[in-house]
Amino acid sequence: MPDFSNPHLIEFAKIGDSGLGYISVAENETLPFAVKRIYWTYFTPEDVTRGGHAHYELEQILLAVAGKIIVTTEILSGEKKEFVLDKPNVGLFMPKMCWHEMQYTHNAVQVCIANMEYSEEDYIREYNVFKK
Ligand code: TYD
Repeated sequence: MPDFSNPHLIEFAKIGDSGLGYISVAENETLPFAVKRIYWTYFTPEDVTRGGHAHYELEQILLAVAGKIIVTTEILSGEKKEFVLDKPNVGLFMPKMCWHEMQYTHNAVQVCIANMEYSEEDYIREYNVFKK
């Protein structure tokens, strides 16, 4: 059983084969939370680092449906990890209270599956506040 207070990779099933191509599916029955919102980011310049925040309540699954995303995470215990997302069927579960930063290849398309609506009040944008 995965520890949902820790960031970790989730592998989605691949339907199909190399001759036909693949379908992967995310549905509430098999996700760690009920989906409220899906958004995506793209055309991020390679010299830009996005993220740089944590969330009080938001939980997300990040996917690189194209290209490659490098995600660094830090949880409240101080444990830091680096994840490379470069497979369309592998997502990263991002728990609440997890500082994260992302860097993208020029062709990367990131899909975020989230458990709640966008709320600026849910962000912790100061690292010092997160560490306290
Ligand atoms: P942010 O979540 O900081 O992006 P990232 O984690 O990819 O660096 O959001 C960037 C800006 O976009 C910020 O001003 C908030 C705004 N925003 C919305 O207006 N709606 C949304 O759904 C999201 C996720 C962000």
